[in-house]
Amino acid sequence: MLPSALFVFLSLGDEVPMRWIKTAASLAGTTAFIAIGWAWLYHLGDRQALAVPPLSLEGYMHEVLPDAPAKKTVLKVDNSACYVCHGNYEEESLVLTHGKKKVGCIDCHGTSYAHRNDEDNVTPPDKMFPPDAIDPMCRECHTAHDVPARKVIQRWQERCPQKTDPARLVCTDCHFQHRLRLRTVRWNKKTGQLLIRQEEKPPASAAGRDRASAAEERRSGQQ
Ligand code: HEC
Ligand code: HEC
Ligand code: HEC
Ligand code: HEC
Repeated sequence: MLPSALFVFLSLGDEVPMRWIKTAASLAGTTAFIAIGWAWLYHLGDRQALAVPPLSLEGYMHEVLPDAPAKKTVLKVDNSACYVCHGNYEEESLVLTHGKKKVGCIDCHGTSYAHRNDEDNVTPPDKMFPPDAIDPMCRECHTAHDVPARKVIQRWQERCPQKTDPARLVCTDCHFQHRLRLRTVRWNKKTGQLLIRQEEKPPASAAGRDRASAAEERRSGQQ
């Protein structure tokens, strides 16, 4: 814009009226003002994430915005049949750690067709794990535990200081968050017999919730 205005101005030589000179000068001034303003905004945007949106998507297709959620873990198993009802396990650490290595819900709990097709939720899954069945099951794949003693004791103190008898300690006391805080249906984990079936109604108060989960822990310890 600026060079062409100058060209017109110069090529007209001496015959240029004052009016034109004024116009060209103000045109040049305006252009410079816009250019400087644009550059300043852009620079500000760089630092403060106020940047003008890119005019072309090239180079921005895979841009990750600062507030985008952390990358989803890609599993090598399909747990979707279970997430229909157990959506709360989609981000759970046992499920993610093992899912990445092709070990899914059904590898540990069985295909459980009857359980997942029962809309009344009274049929148990194929395999459940009472406390004394947990360690042997984990040990089928994890034969060694090469961890410094201090780390193990520290974990014990952090995760379950209330369990003072080492004979009662199981793998999942120290690993993952796989146990439910609240149960609405409860089976005998050895026989599959239905023990409790209640409508989903979480206790109204936080204190109620804590009491419920304490009772929960006592019960699962007994089974
Ligand atoms: C590596 C084996 C393994 C995998 C994979 C696994 N589970 Fe489990 N699951 C267990 C064990 C062991 C227990 C018993 C844990 C305990 O009582 O501490 C358990 C317990 C549970 C419980 C009962 C928790 C409670 O509070 O009594 C539910 C519900 C459950 N699993 C659902 C799932 C779902 C859904 C998936 C897949 C998204 C899954 N599990 C994947 C081994 C596994
Ligand atoms: C079917 C085999 C299988 C079963 C059953 C199994 N795991 Fe695993 N587990 C794996 C595999 C495979 C990995 C990935 C190992 C690796 O990355 O070295 C893994 C990873 C882990 C890790 C993470 C290891 C690390 O290096 O960070 C822990 C902890 C773990 N499992 C605990 C358990 C517990 C507790 C149980 C019982 C509830 C269990 N596993 C049952 C196969 C299994
Ligand atoms: C008292 C707590 C505690 C108990 C019980 C426990 N672990 Fe661990 N485990 C640890 C700690 C701590 C680590 C080290 C984790 C780390 O380095 O971040 C660990 C690491 C592991 C690892 C990864 C390192 C390795 O050796 O491959 C696996 C797999 C594992 N445990 C499986 C199990 C299994 C299976 C059981 C039950 C038989 C179990 N753990 C019981 C505390 C425990
Ligand atoms: C139609 C809904 C539904 C589907 C689908 C479903 N579940 Fe469940 N499952 C439940 C309900 C409800 C409970 C009881 C949970 C509670 O107490 O709040 C439960 C409990 C469990 C338990 C706990 C058993 C115990 O130890 O007490 C396991 C394990 C489990 N389901 C595994 C699975 C697996 C594996 C799949 C997929 C193959 C699956 N479920 C699919 C509804 C479902």
